[in-house]
This record gives sequence, C-alpha cells and structure tokens, in this order.
Amino acid sequence: MAKMWSGRFSADASSLLEQFNASIMFDKRLYGEDIEGSLAHAKMLSAQGILTKSELEQIQSGLAQVKDEIESEEFVWSIGDEDLHMAIEKRLTQIIGDAGKKLHTARSRNDQVALDFRLFVLRHNTKIALLLKELMQTVVHLASQHTTTIMPGMTHLQHAQPTNFGFHMLAYASMFKRDIERFISSSDRNNISPLGCAALAGTVYNIDREAVATELGFDSISINCLDTVSDRDFALEMLFNISTVMMHISRLSEELVLWSSYEFGFIELSDEYSTGSSIMPQKKNPDVPELLRGKCGRVYGSLIGLFSVMKSLPLAYNKDTQEDKEGLFDAVDTVMISLEILEQALATMSVNQDQMQSATAVGHLSATDLADYLVSRCSIPFREAHFITGRVIGLAQELGIDLSTMSLEQLRSVDERIGEDVLELLDLTNSMNARVSKGATATVRTLEQVVYFENYLKGLDL
Ligand code: ARG
Repeated sequence: MAKMWSGRFSADASSLLEQFNASIMFDKRLYGEDIEGSLAHAKMLSAQGILTKSELEQIQSGLAQVKDEIESEEFVWSIGDEDLHMAIEKRLTQIIGDAGKKLHTARSRNDQVALDFRLFVLRHNTKIALLLKELMQTVVHLASQHTTTIMPGMTHLQHAQPTNFGFHMLAYASMFKRDIERFISSSDRNNISPLGCAALAGTVYNIDREAVATELGFDSISINCLDTVSDRDFALEMLFNISTVMMHISRLSEELVLWSSYEFGFIELSDEYSTGSSIMPQKKNPDVPELLRGKCGRVYGSLIGLFSVMKSLPLAYNKDTQEDKEGLFDAVDTVMISLEILEQALATMSVNQDQMQSATAVGHLSATDLADYLVSRCSIPFREAHFITGRVIGLAQELGIDLSTMSLEQLRSVDERIGEDVLELLDLTNSMNARVSKGATATVRTLEQVVYFENYLKGLDL
C-alpha cells in the first residue's frame, strides 16, 4: 500500500520497517487531541481564506465521523498507516474525498504531534492533581480524627519523641500539597500552542496561530518554531512530578507495610484492600502498599528513559522523539490508579490506637524533656543535662522500666537536683503536648495544621 510520503520512493517499505517505525499501536490514544487540533487548524485555514467554507464543513463532518468510528471501535488501526495522524487523515480522505487532502496545508506531523502530546500532558496534569486532592482530603480527615492518638515519633526508625497519628498523617498532607502545586505550575508554564510551527521553520501561508491557540484553550503561542517541535520539557516535568508523587506514595506505603506487621500492629488494612497467601491460610498480606512501593521504580524508569532519549538530539524533530509516549502513558496510568487505590486503602483501614499508645511506653520517649527540665529548672548546661539524662536512661534500662514510669527516688538517685515537678513533664501525653512551637506536634498545633490544610483544600479550584 502506498504511503502518504511515498512520492520520491520507488520500492515499498519492508514489513519489518513498518513494524519498527510505527507508533500507531500506542499513539492512537491521542485521537481525541489529534481531531480537536485538526478541527481548530481547519477552522483557522478557512477563516484565513486558505480553505473554502464548504471544504471546512466537509472536514468537520468527516472528522466527526472518524471520531465516531474510533469510539465505536469500527475504525481499523493498521500498522501500515504508521501513526494516528496519517491513519486519521487517510480515513478522512476516504470519507470526504479531496477536501481531506487539504487539511495538512500549513501543518506538519511535527507540530501536530507536539500539540497532541502537550494537550494530553496538560489535561492529565489536572486529572492527577484532582486525584491528589481527593487523597489529600482523606489524609486530612484521618488526621483530624487522630490529633490525640499518641504514637512514638521516630528517627532512624528508633523511638525518638512522642507525637500523634494526626500529626504524622499531616506530614503526608504537606507532601501531597506540594505535589498538587507542582502539577499546577507545570501546566501554567507549558500552556502554549505549538500549532503553526509546521515542520521546523514555520510556514509561508498566512496563518493565524493565536486564533488556533484560543480555540484550543491555550494561554498563548510558542515563540520559536524550531524549539517548539523538538521540545519535550513539558513531558519531562510531568514525569518528574509523577516520580515525586510516587516517591511520597512509596514512603507512606512503606510505613503502612511496617505498621500492619504484628511487630507494630498500628493499623489493619481492610479485607477489601488486602490479599491472602496461596499456602499459608493465616496470612493477610499488604499487597497494595507493597505494589505501590514497587510501582515507583517503573515510573522512575520512564523519567530516566525520556531524559536519555532527549539527550544529544540535534534540533529539531528526530524520530527518537517518538519514544516519548509509552513511558509517559504508563507513568500516567500508574500514578492515577495508585492515587485512587491508596485513597481507598487509607479510607478503609482501621487505626489501632491502643497499640500505638502501648508502643510509646517503651524507648524513653520523654528523655529530651528530662534534659530540657535540667536546663530550664536547674540551670544545668544542655551538654551536661544530656549526660545526666543518659545516666538516668542507663538506670531505667537496668531496672527494665521506661523513663516515664520512674519514681522520683529513682530519678534523684542519679542527680539530687531533680525535683518532683519533673514527673508531670515525663508523662508521655504531656511531653507530646509540650511541643507547642509553630508546626509542632502538640494537639493544639496539630489542630491548627488540620484547619490550614482544610482551608487549602476548600480554596483549591482545579
Ligand atoms: N509518530 C511520530 C511521533 O510520534 C509523529 C511525528 C512524525 N514526524 C516525522 N517527521 N516523521 O513522533
């Protein structure tokens, strides 16, 4: 079958080349964007007197039919057509005849694919931001219910200071807020129409790029045609943004896996979002967070993959660029289902407050409070206070008890300057609530943070 570009060729393409060269198997996903772009382009060509009104009408009805055929799955996607752009144009011409052959006036597949891919990225930036918003809503709601649920805060995965579960969840709300902002700012920066750049150098026709940009909902047109047809920064930004989301998801997932173990027992995932073992009847496995952790890797792969494709490409369009799509499509699909399932897993899990509370009873979580007490009430320099507290901890270890349950006599056996007023400071809930600096873990501060994030979500218009 003759190719659209076959004028200067005398032999047919080999079937091996057809297979190797084609992108139609995956770029057909861009059919909606492609048809929208063609409609805007044709409308502009007609307004500029390059197409007649009747040709425009034929193109409009022909493209509507093509769209219907694609959506009803009647459309035949054939590898011989190479990519979706040529497949659609070929079918349009079969339907409407010669007017179909005029659609590509003042256009190249280079600006056409740059448009389709950019529109896909911009639209999915918003879809992902919306899913992040829903996840964040669930996280903030969970936090609002647990501002007094005391748990051990950790550094190096070792007991450090008492915190509350709400405070812990709000750390993730903070990450998801930044993630949302990254998708929004990336869309703002890249909201630029590439159409009219043609192959690389613009066109001799009297086109109106601004009209096309407005028709397609872009803020403005690109400045330099050569850059526009080869630029894939917008896709790299999206892949970086998705990778960052997946990294955050993976960190939370890691905690969910740990917390659902017998050793922690802080949470229990619902049956709906847990799996069993084929051999061990007693098992309830956290496959969802494990897979979420694992899927982070493939998304990083897509980011590095596209960086590697783009590196060293001479200007302007090169066929290498066709490799931009599959990795990005996969990353988009991966992050979208990941956000949805994580939201569900969190919304349906149960939080074992008693277990969190008993975990605070070991590890001397109020040790810093004792040192701070020695500094502020006994005027002991912090370094010395740190040492004395270390001795107290040594004694507690010897006695096999936690600092928070030591008696005044036991404390004073290490240093006589310790007074009775220390006992309430060593109580774990008091220790948590003593941290009242801005952004700290005290319940009052955690509640402030809940309100902050609730207001942010309320004002977020996507
Ligand atoms: N299928 C191609 C891609 O995805 C479309 C652009 C082809 N342009 C060209 N000059 N061969 O990149």
